[in-house]
Parts: sequence; C-alpha cells; structure tokens
Amino acid sequence: MKASIAAVASFIALAVGAYAAVRATALEQQLHDLSARVQGVELTKPGIREVMGQVYTHYNDLGAAAEQGNWGLAQYKLMQLEEFMNMVPTLRPIENGLKLGDVSGAFVKGPLAAMYAAVKSQNKADFMTGYRGAAMTCNGCHAATGRVYIQIVPAVKAP
Ligand code: HEC
Repeated sequence: MKASIAAVASFIALAVGAYAAVRATALEQQLHDLSARVQGVELTKPGIREVMGQVYTHYNDLGAAAEQGNWGLAQYKLMQLEEFMNMVPTLRPIENGLKLGDVSGAFVKGPLAAMYAAVKSQNKADFMTGYRGAAMTCNGCHAATGRVYIQIVPAVKAP
C-alpha cells in the first residue's frame, strides 16, 4: 500500500514537472515571438536620420517658396519644419554631452520665429536673415554633435 502511494506520488510529481516544462517552453516561445515583433516595430519607427531628411526637404522647399513669393507655402513649410525639429530631442535627447532639445529649442525660438514673422509681413529681406540664421543653427548642431561635414547651405539668393 505504502509503496503504491509513493508510486502515485512520484507519478504526479513527474506529470506536474513535465507540464511545467511544456508550459515554460510555450512561454519562452511566446516571449521570443514578442521580442521579434518589438524589434520589427523598432525598425519601422523613424529615427533621427529620417527626421533630418524631412527637416532638410522642408528647409529647402521653404527657401524656394519664399523666393517665389509663395508666402502661403512658406508658412506651410515652416509649420512642418517646426514639427520635425521638435521631434529631434524625443529621438535622441543627448549627444556628445549636448542636450539636443536646447539647440532645437533655440532654433524654434530664434530663426524659425523670425521667419514666421517675416512670412507674415511678407518681408523677403527679413526672411533671408532668418533663413541664413537657420542654416547656421543647423550647422552648429551638426558640428557640436561631431558631424562638422554635414553642412547646410542656404540655396536661395539674397534678395
Ligand atoms: C538639435 C541638433 C540638430 C539641428 C538643430 C539640426 N540637425 Fe541635422 N542632424 C542632427 C544629427 C544629430 C544628425 C546625425 C544623425 C545621425 O546620423 O545619427 C543630423 C543629420 C542631418 C542630415 C544628414 C542626414 C542623412 O541621413 O544623411 C541632414 C541632411 C540634416 N541633418 C539637415 C539639417 C537641417 C537642414 C537643419 C536645419 C534646418 C538641421 N539638420 C538641424 C542634429 C541636428
């Protein structure tokens, strides 16, 4: 009798152990699948480089719009430039000890605000001052983060 109770007990222990092992393997598999999916999502998220590509496009379009006196388009491009610039510190808060938000914030409050005002008053000379100041801020941040070779040149001629 005692022997059979021991046999049943050890059988139960084995069964529970086997069940736990199967469950652990299933959980491991789920965790593995989940982490693969998270990695996939991370890859599709725009990084700072994609954002900089957008900043670059809108900066150039902005200059062309002002050059053509298309102030509505210039205003529209300023809004997009601002949106993308504000994304920079959320994607990379700090680099080379520099808080990127400080520079992107200075960009928005300085040259960007000056260009908004110039677009509103349709003043091309004031616009150009802001536009050139913007490029200096672009290049300042690139140099400070160790990429002095990324040089933004304002493409628009002086009025
Ligand atoms: C707050 C800092 C900061 C400001 C301001 C800034 N950038 Fe950048 N930019 C970066 C960083 C950091 C990189 C490098 C990203 C990387 O490669 O990891 C970069 C890279 C770039 C690149 C290269 C992207 C590529 O894939 O080759 C371009 C083009 C660019 N910036 C355009 C601009 C323009 C135009 C402005 C101004 C209107 C500007 N940036 C302002 C931080 C900044």
